[in-house]
Amino acid sequence: FIRVCDIFTHRRVTLLSRGIIRHGMHAIAVYEGESEPELIDLPRPDPDVGEALVRTLRVGVDGTDHEVISGGHGGFPADTDHMVLGHEAVGVVEDANGTELSEGDVVVPTVRRRPNGDNTYFERGEPDMAPDGQYHERGIVGDHGFMADYFTSPAEFLITVPPELAELGFLVEPISITEKAVEHADASRSAFEWNPDAALVLGNGSLGLITLAMFEQRFDRTYCLGRRERPYPTIDIIESLDSTYVNSNEIPVPEIPDAHEAPDLIYESTGYAKHPFESIEALAPNGVLAALGIPGDWAFEIEGGKLHRELVLHNKAIVGSVNSHVGHFEAAVDTLASLSDSFLNDLVTGIYELNDYEAAFVDDDRTIKNAIQFSEYEKRR
Ligand code: NAP
Ligand code: BGC
Ligand code: ZN
Repeated sequence: FIRVCDIFTHRRVTLLSRGIIRHGMHAIAVYEGESEPELIDLPRPDPDVGEALVRTLRVGVDGTDHEVISGGHGGFPADTDHMVLGHEAVGVVEDANGTELSEGDVVVPTVRRRPNGDNTYFERGEPDMAPDGQYHERGIVGDHGFMADYFTSPAEFLITVPPELAELGFLVEPISITEKAVEHADASRSAFEWNPDAALVLGNGSLGLITLAMFEQRFDRTYCLGRRERPYPTIDIIESLDSTYVNSNEIPVPEIPDAHEAPDLIYESTGYAKHPFESIEALAPNGVLAALGIPGDWAFEIEGGKLHRELVLHNKAIVGSVNSHVGHFEAAVDTLASLSDSFLNDLVTGIYELNDYEAAFVDDDRTIKNAIQFSEYEKRR
């Protein structure tokens, strides 16, 4: 049984082996109507003017990739039946192509690209603030991602990272997501003297744990909410960060102030749509909630009057935050360098070679953060 896309892929292989396509490469893509990623062959891309060619080292997998694969989020590039996956990448410049980069530089790409020509968000260097239709996201919506042996990118969207971060550089993108969210949350509290000392992270997935490690450096006390019973690997990580685990089956979000304390900052990374509303009650006066999760449609009842009153009478804020820009990636490089080796070892549960790529998409109880390795980093002499 050979599907049409297999014939397409095989045809590519044949053309490659005959030398008709000069350089081929592996890529991991999802096809329309399919629910599993596939390993395919594609021609190696040629960089346009202003672009560099990057040899991919590693690409991480997160909750969004699973949502893209299942069809719950994102969309295919125009005029094609598949999308190359991956938005958390690190690579090495193979061909600087006249840009300010140099061959051998270790780089991390940002995610958003101009959809059809420029717009004011990209002109301002704030593509993360663009509304739907005014951006593509590589590997998520409208544009192919980085899960391929090589990718090209405008140099303006490639952030140079120190060689010692080459192996874990795929964590820069998720860290940048929190850099942005926290910048916006802080900005919402900048009109008065705000001295937060307790933070709560909702969700113990990869984004939640990365954020908790970042918060541990800033706040006196941190809490992390999950729904798993002990023993459980992420609970061990939470406690190794000197944070307090909150089991949502025992203590729902609105009861956290009574059981522990009211947090000044809540970071929602569950995608559970009731959490932002429950957080309004849980926040300390003058506190702020950063909402990051991307739920599907879900209609439910809330006590609107009570929550509205709570927001107003206690000066609370809710900030939604998506994506991140170059400045957030640059901050994330420093943050990655500051995270402890023991935390990073615990966080990264699997680095898979291409021939075992399917294992990287398994989402079982021991999986926290997986990545696929396309090539190894070799420092140039
Ligand atoms: P993930 O690995 O799926 O993590 C979600 C975590 O939330 C899981 O550990 C899950 O627990 C937990 N959870 C879900 N519902 C819960 C509930 N009712 N009570 C307690 N815990 C609950 O995903 P991720 O990669 O960390 O990303 C987290 C969310 O952020 C996703 O919705 C993703 O789409 C979104 N995201 C947004 C941005 C942005 O720019 N805004 C960027 C990256 C990701 P179990 O392990 O028990 O399932
Ligand atoms: C990515 C962001 C993206 C968001 C929404 C996240 O997983 O890390 O870059 O903007 O999904 O698609
Ligand atoms: Zn992501």
